[in-house]
Amino acid sequence: MEENYNRIELGLQNHVIGKRIYHYKKLKSTQLLAITLAENDIKNEEGTVIIADQQDEGRGRGKKKWFSPIGGLWMSLIIKPRIEFTKFNMISVISAISVCESINRISMLKTSIQWPNDVLFNNKKLAGILIDSSINNSDNDYVVIGIGINIDIDNSKFNFSHASNSILSRKVTSIQNEIKGRAIDRFLLMKQILEKIELYLLLLKYDKYDSRIIGIYKQHFDTLGKKIIVYQDGVKKYYGIVKDIDIYGGLILERYDNSLEKIYSGQISIRESN
Ligand code: BTN
Repeated sequence: MEENYNRIELGLQNHVIGKRIYHYKKLKSTQLLAITLAENDIKNEEGTVIIADQQDEGRGRGKKKWFSPIGGLWMSLIIKPRIEFTKFNMISVISAISVCESINRISMLKTSIQWPNDVLFNNKKLAGILIDSSINNSDNDYVVIGIGINIDIDNSKFNFSHASNSILSRKVTSIQNEIKGRAIDRFLLMKQILEKIELYLLLLKYDKYDSRIIGIYKQHFDTLGKKIIVYQDGVKKYYGIVKDIDIYGGLILERYDNSLEKIYSGQISIRESN
């Protein structure tokens, strides 16, 4: 481990998330380490954040890899949400809003969210979120939120692998490629994200209806009204038009026979169709 921080050293306003921050030069995957810590929970790992300068085996959604050289923000955080079961899907929504808003604030770019939680700029992927959880309605329940943001990686580097952030999977970019010139402070970006996630989690816990969070999500959401193809485990499952987002963050899709389908995150990816 390179360094250890706590929330006070970083000037974090949070009470829980970021109470311990482990910073590594290199890891296989911050997500794997966070899951191991959460599973064992020896030091009461709620709020622990793992960050690595680079990952050898970064993991993306849908069992894809995540290309993670030096130049990105690669981090995973452990939370123990203590929320109703129906709200768990909202953790993905909250994470996406927090990443999107923090990038916008720090870079001045206007990014958007592609359902469920990809952050795009000009239709190019800038950041991805991976959620792993163990939920059995017990004290050991945990959620690990993995966040990967391409900050300063030359676009030419994304073209060789089948990672979730490679141009073989979709168009990708990094913040520095889009803003040219101004440097982005990775720790400041991390701090913003951690503060937002803690705030939105509180809102999720105490807000009776999640309408406020969904309202914010819709402001950043760019898939409404679009024709899409939904893939489940890499296989085409539905075609249709995106009608709305429901109160749990699910996608409401109108299929071509006019029936409505609700889709929740899981191992699903979507593509725009013509
Ligand atoms: C996606 O496929 O869009 C999700 C990518 C998530 C990548 C992050 S980087 C930090 C954390 N550690 C991992 O191995 N994956 C996540």
